[in-house]
Amino acid sequence: MKHLFAALVAALLLFTPVLATKKVFAHLLVGNTPEMELSEWENDMRLAKASLIDGFALNIASQDSNNVRSLKRAFQAAEKVGGFKLFFCFDYEAQGPWRADQIVDLLDEYAGRDVYFKHEGTRPMVTTFEGTGSADDWNRIKKVFPDLYFIPDWSSAGPERAVKLGGGVADGLASWGAWPEGKKSISTQLDRAYLAALGGKGYMMPVSPWFYTNLPGWNKNWLWRGDGLWELRWNQVASVDPDYVQILTWNDYGESHYIGPIHEKQLALFEHGRAPINYAKDMPHDAWRKLLPWYISVYKNGRPPARVLQETAVIYYRPSPARACDGGGTVANAASHGQKEMPPEEVLADKVFWSALLNSDKGLSVKVKIGDDEDYARSLTLVPPAGMGRPGVYAGSVPFNGRTGPVQVTVMQGGRTVAVVRGSKNITNHCEKGIQNWDAVVA
Ligand SMILES: *[C@@H]1O[C@H](CO)[C@@H](O)[C@H](O)[C@H]1NC(C)=O
Repeated sequence: MKHLFAALVAALLLFTPVLATKKVFAHLLVGNTPEMELSEWENDMRLAKASLIDGFALNIASQDSNNVRSLKRAFQAAEKVGGFKLFFCFDYEAQGPWRADQIVDLLDEYAGRDVYFKHEGTRPMVTTFEGTGSADDWNRIKKVFPDLYFIPDWSSAGPERAVKLGGGVADGLASWGAWPEGKKSISTQLDRAYLAALGGKGYMMPVSPWFYTNLPGWNKNWLWRGDGLWELRWNQVASVDPDYVQILTWNDYGESHYIGPIHEKQLALFEHGRAPINYAKDMPHDAWRKLLPWYISVYKNGRPPARVLQETAVIYYRPSPARACDGGGTVANAASHGQKEMPPEEVLADKVFWSALLNSDKGLSVKVKIGDDEDYARSLTLVPPAGMGRPGVYAGSVPFNGRTGPVQVTVMQGGRTVAVVRGSKNITNHCEKGIQNWDAVVA
């Protein structure tokens, strides 16, 4: 009897599902998707899922008449794909504030669906982009949906004030602080401030690979430093260990931080925003997803997998030296964020950045060929959180040094070639329309 009981307890322990609360979402602008077919939605979801992304935070603007159709397709696609979640991000900036009754209507229609993401399996999750002025609305909305898990981004208020807004209506907070100021590398200072202010409430940490926007039609023309950002930030995710991660973004081509595939039909925004050049055209960022399964596994398991099954490498660089062409009026830093503007060439380095997922750095050598000229990486700027010699991502960079032409990076270990990566664009001193493209070539 005693043995039977012990066996029963053991069996229960074995089969009790671990409450895996950590999740990684990608932020998706629904406003860019009215032309997206059901099959394209499905394809994007399959790609995200293959990168171990758990779902999309669907950014919706309050006055967008296409929302109805786009959301219908998105949910239809998620139901078809399976194992992929969706939830709403109410954007209060794009087209003004949302009304509480509009939000109630949308939640009424969607929050109960199986594919709608629920915190701890039962509480429909909702985030926002800003909307601090409407914080009180959420007390009313929660009266209608008492189970709601409300985790807004109220970055403009800062963590201490945000956590108190609406009488403390938020169940957690999302941050939008994914980019460093000026020449600095991003730190976890702001993330730590959120954790401190939240005192145990949920935190959704932002991770982004890049930022450049030049859309005079919408009064946007600045960049933030993306040099080495993606790989550094994922190491920070491993150390901050937030409840949730939000990747900024899946398809924001206008701000150059898309990691999803380019949909030509979505690039019409460059005309609407009166961009001097279409800076996302032929600039795929898909390779930024390549190391995501590794980064996400490290984050979710709290430690790296024992071995790297497929060693691989990713590179990125800007297509022209910073001083080669007219800067297009783009500045580094945003005055709208209370930052001092700087010339981009003082912030961004003319370098080819590489990251390699390896079992160890033993015997590692990285050759960067630009045009006919070869150079070797001299140092590592990033090693796995577990340390040198351990499985994980090793990264560094090699300056252009005046070289132009095709880019090829060869990662070798003790005479063995691990990976050869070719850039999809030559580095050139000749820019389209004579204007600098500050977006990244990723391969
Ligand atoms: C890139 O450079 C190579 C070698 O100089 C040249 O053959 C090729 O045409 C260039 N590609 C473009 C798109 O300019």
